[in-house]
Amino acid sequence: MRKYPKKIKIIRKALELQKFSKKMLGQGKSIGLVPTMGALHKGHIHLVETSAKNNDVTIVSIFINPTQFGANEDFAKYPRRLQADAKLCAEAGANIVFAPEPKEMYPQPLQTYVRNAELENVYCGKWRPGHFAGVLSVVAKLLNIALPSRAYFGEKDFQQLHVIRKMVFDLNFPVKVIGVKTIREKNGLAMSSRNEYMSLKEREAASSIYAGLMEAKKMYERGIDSVVKLKGIVEKKIKQAGGKIQYVEIANKNDLQPIKTKVSKNAVILLACHFGKTRLIDHLEFF
Ligand code: PAF
Repeated sequence: MRKYPKKIKIIRKALELQKFSKKMLGQGKSIGLVPTMGALHKGHIHLVETSAKNNDVTIVSIFINPTQFGANEDFAKYPRRLQADAKLCAEAGANIVFAPEPKEMYPQPLQTYVRNAELENVYCGKWRPGHFAGVLSVVAKLLNIALPSRAYFGEKDFQQLHVIRKMVFDLNFPVKVIGVKTIREKNGLAMSSRNEYMSLKEREAASSIYAGLMEAKKMYERGIDSVVKLKGIVEKKIKQAGGKIQYVEIANKNDLQPIKTKVSKNAVILLACHFGKTRLIDHLEFF
């Protein structure tokens, strides 16, 4: 079994990480990057372990990126626990935690953004104006700082993963983007750092999201391919459990173009809803 270092190096400065990565690449080593905002859960740990298995060096970035939060969102209360996160990263096989201060990432306000002009205003983008420009710009910066051979993202943030892949493709970033399967709680709730905002009762009620998605899957397997019916069952389950729907949409999973009438194999259901004050997202792919 591979032995992991008990101690992990925390780097705070972009230039220091860039120098380290250049040195590693110069020695022919592969680098895996796992970008996160911290408050790590099993889903993140799975990403780190996957990277550690497949790369010589694994870097986990922990940076709560202010530019991807809207004015009324949870930037201030987003959980912060660097030391505990760093320990989890070490146990999962990471070598470096990159934890810059906002001033280090944004010494000056950004004037240059990466945007996906087509997809930034749909699905989650419709409800979170500016969010994807914030995400893409910070991910572009992290890729340029950490110089990874591979970068790992959760499939849970389906639209995010899609726009990151498209950015890497469109702008020729020399990195392979790897999407990693969603890890779920026993009751089906997708793991998320935001789950800890919820009471136990809310967490239980939020399991209706996955129940609704599974119900839609069963209906599809029974031959029901109507978008209205499949969306309807998901919405019904969530509402019955007390959730407030932001959107439930069905799209082609390869380009995220909306599907309006009949679902086919390449479709994905995308959704966002609130349980109490907590905003949750999830998705289901049809195979
Ligand atoms: O998914 C996240 O945690 C963030 O959006 C990311 C990719 C680390 C960018 O800040």
